Amino acid sequence: MKRIATMLSPEEIDSRLREMGREISEDYAGRQLVLVGVLRGAYMFLADLCRYITIPIEVDFLGVQSYGDETTSSGVVRMTSDLSRPIQDKHVLVVEDIVDTGLTARYLIQNLETRKPASLALCALLEKPKNNVGGVPIRYLGFTIPDQFVIGYGMDYASLYRNVPYIGVLEDQKEN
Ligand code: PRP
Repeated sequence: MKRIATMLSPEEIDSRLREMGREISEDYAGRQLVLVGVLRGAYMFLADLCRYITIPIEVDFLGVQSYGDETTSSGVVRMTSDLSRPIQDKHVLVVEDIVDTGLTARYLIQNLETRKPASLALCALLEKPKNNVGGVPIRYLGFTIPDQFVIGYGMDYASLYRNVPYIGVLEDQKEN
């Protein structure tokens, strides 16, 4: 078991989500908004964020994978499950846990654009600006972080650590 160094505490995450929820609620007031969570990493972020959104919303999910069990992106994005309902003429906000190389976000925006939503934008909890070559603009961003592999709050290393209630970095040492 590796030790985890805290990067963002539950309190820091919660307070930022409150602000993001307020902003989204104001911007989309009177519109038909669908939050599209990107599985699996975004499930916890979406669940917490949507509690701070005060307008009626739909929630849907799709699944993509680009990392496998590695800590660097394979560069190949694969859709593992699709939306359950059409998004045509709806306002769609894609909810991602992290934009790293930006390849997943770019793939998703290009894919969903073909389904003719009324609008399409990206919300991400984390961005590594140093790596984001995908060039997709993030309309709602929680935090910018340095180029370190992060786990917790939905994000995994080799399928583990998603349930850690904060965002951390694995320290390369063994526990006694
Ligand atoms: C992670 C993360 C994003 C993507 C970001 O997903 O959840 O979807 O990678 O990386 P990128 O900007 O370099 O494309 P991952 O493939 O690890 O799947 P998971 O969400 O199921 O953990």
